[in-house]
Amino acid sequence: MSEQVWKPYEYDRQLSFVSAYGKGVAELLAPQPGERILDLGCGTGDLAYEISASGAHVTGMDYSAEMIERAKGKYPGLTFMVGDGENFATETPYDAVFSNAALHWMKDAASVVRSVYNSLKPGGRFVAEFGGLGNIDGIYQALKSVFANYYGIDADTRNPWYYPSLGQYASLLESQGFRVHTAHHFDRPTKLPEGKDGIKHWLLQFGDHFFAGFTVEEKNEAIDHISQAAQKALWHKDSFYGDYKRLRVFAEKVV
Ligand code: BEZ
Repeated sequence: MSEQVWKPYEYDRQLSFVSAYGKGVAELLAPQPGERILDLGCGTGDLAYEISASGAHVTGMDYSAEMIERAKGKYPGLTFMVGDGENFATETPYDAVFSNAALHWMKDAASVVRSVYNSLKPGGRFVAEFGGLGNIDGIYQALKSVFANYYGIDADTRNPWYYPSLGQYASLLESQGFRVHTAHHFDRPTKLPEGKDGIKHWLLQFGDHFFAGFTVEEKNEAIDHISQAAQKALWHKDSFYGDYKRLRVFAEKVV
């Protein structure tokens, strides 16, 4: 399976809504001056910077070296590092771990939850939002039907995403030793930039796993078919709307 190639400059230019929506999650975190906070899957660092305005000491971590390089360039006063959310450790535990729009890329959720738990102080907070069950299903079903009908490929075999239900994720947190204070699973229809090219741009940013082995022409052709197939469900007035469904949790490490 090919890897997702992150494109930090395009990400910042075309997908700033990702961080904009994450501001609500940062408010739920309620960072305090002097706290040590890890932003897990920090991307190009915008929310780490936002959180640091509270006076907290924020470390941003991301799997992508390209995103981390861009984050360091944008926010030289903050600490950023490349790391694997499924397997990380810290010598000095954090007061809180924050994550926005990243955990659905980490399929081994039990290992993520264990790493987060081990990196927190007793009483530490885990505040996260990511894709929940049914997330972007309109885009995915369009892709799945095009892959099956035109290319004889079962897209499920290439799917890099983890979208648990509220019950599944809350249970996972509890079995690790977290107390789940709040968990919400809600619809967040999201206007995709670039008008009629909205699905195309979205897939070019996020869909690399699916197009392994495709030529450029095949990929463009497949994307055109997927855009058409998604139109009925996702096109409204002048734009595509991604059928995002978010899972937002606030949990506490109990000893
Ligand atoms: C999301 O934020 O839900 C998402 C982003 C890219 C790919 C899949 C899901």
